[in-house]
Amino acid sequence: MAKFTVNGEEVTVDVEADTPLLWALRDELRLTGTKFGCGIAQCGACTVMVDGMPRRSCVTPVGQVEGSDIETIEGVSGPEAEAVQAAWVDIDVPQCGWCQSGQVMSATALLRMVPKPSDEDIDNAMAGNICRCATYVRIRNAIHNAADTLEG
Ligand code: FES
Ligand code: FES
Repeated sequence: MAKFTVNGEEVTVDVEADTPLLWALRDELRLTGTKFGCGIAQCGACTVMVDGMPRRSCVTPVGQVEGSDIETIEGVSGPEAEAVQAAWVDIDVPQCGWCQSGQVMSATALLRMVPKPSDEDIDNAMAGNICRCATYVRIRNAIHNAADTLEG
């Protein structure tokens, strides 16, 4: 059993403490926007925010997030999240889409920490988010556009 907040709502999940947060979100809470890719913290598809920081939910046991504030793609909000999502739509970033909720979460986390990121900042922050469809150029452009929107 673990209790935490997801997208502003307090939830209790009846799972073992070592159950990955990803499966608590997808299977117990039916929040399927967060995706499974590798299961070993190598692809970023499962990225969520835990207390404002991006975390790989596939390797985060629910026992570690007791009392934490979790944001998923279904509920992430605020100016940076909105700017990122608008830029994603404008540029039409996704291809198959599988990696994209993780990409959006990592991009949002980056802009919350670095409002005007350089190419290098973006490459460093997004390096752990793999895209098999290679949408990297559009991702980088969308992050720059989102940053410009926030600045304006
Ligand atoms: S599924 Fe978690 S990093 Fe790949
Ligand atoms: S859009 Fe297909 S894996 Fe990224």
